[in-house]
Amino acid sequence: MSEKGISLAVIKRLPRYYRYLGELLENDVVRISSKELSERMHVTASQIRQDLNNFGGFGQQGYGYNVEYLHTEIGKILGLDKKYSMIIIGAGNLGQALANYSDFERKGFVLKGIFDVNPVLKGVSIRDTPIMMMDELEEFLKKNSVQIAALTIPKSKAPQTAQRLVKLGIKAIWNFAPTDLHLPEGVVSENVHLSESLMRLSYSLKSKEEDPE
Ligand code: NAI
Repeated sequence: MSEKGISLAVIKRLPRYYRYLGELLENDVVRISSKELSERMHVTASQIRQDLNNFGGFGQQGYGYNVEYLHTEIGKILGLDKKYSMIIIGAGNLGQALANYSDFERKGFVLKGIFDVNPVLKGVSIRDTPIMMMDELEEFLKKNSVQIAALTIPKSKAPQTAQRLVKLGIKAIWNFAPTDLHLPEGVVSENVHLSESLMRLSYSLKSKEEDPE
C-alpha cells in the first residue's frame, strides 16, 4: 500500500489514467462519466469507478468526474507536481534517443547531463546538453543536485556503475541495461525492458495464430 492507502495495482494503472485525463484536458473536456472513459480506455466502467474512487473528484451520480481535479490529484500521487533532475549514463543509441525526447521535461524530468566513456563523444551536445566523460561525474554531482540516473550502458558495466551512482547520492535508477540491479534500501529503481514487452507481444500473436476466433 502507498502512503495514502492506495494499492500498488492501482498505482501501476495511474500513469495511463493520467495520460487519458491529460488528453481530455487538452481538448477542454471538463467532466467525463466512467462509461465514456471506459469506452475510450477499453477498461470496464466498474474498474474505473473502483480505481478513481480513491481520489474523489466526482459529484452526484451521473454527474461525471471532474477531469482537471482528477488529473491534478493523480499527478500529485505520482509525484509529477515536482521537478526532478536526471542524468543519462551511456550516450549510445538508446541514451541519445532518451536525451532527444523532450516530452520528459514537460512532465517534470529535467535532463541535467549525459555521461559516457567514449572520448569521441566528449562535448557533443544533444538538445543543448553536452556529453561529459565519466571522470567528470563526481565533480558534476557535487555541484548539481540530481535525483535520477538513466542507465543505458552495457549490461556488464551496469552493476558497478549503479553502485558508484548510489555512493554519489543518486536516489533513483531508471535501468535499461538487461540485468537486475541490487541496490541498497532507500534507492529505488525501475527496469525498462523492451524485449520483455516484445516477448509478450510474441506470445499474444502466437496465441491468436493458434486459436483464431
Ligand atoms: P550503444 O553501444 O549504442 O551505447 C552504449 C554506450 O555506453 C556507448 O556510447 C558506450 O561508450 C557507453 N559506455 C560503455 N561503458 C560505459 C561506462 N562504464 N560508463 C558510461 N558509458 C559507458 O548501446 P545501446 O544500443 O544504446 O544500448 C545500451 C544499453 O541498453 C545496453 O545494455 C542494451 O542492452 C540496453 N538496451 C535496452 C533496451 C531496453 O528495452 N531496456 C533496448 C535497447 C538497448
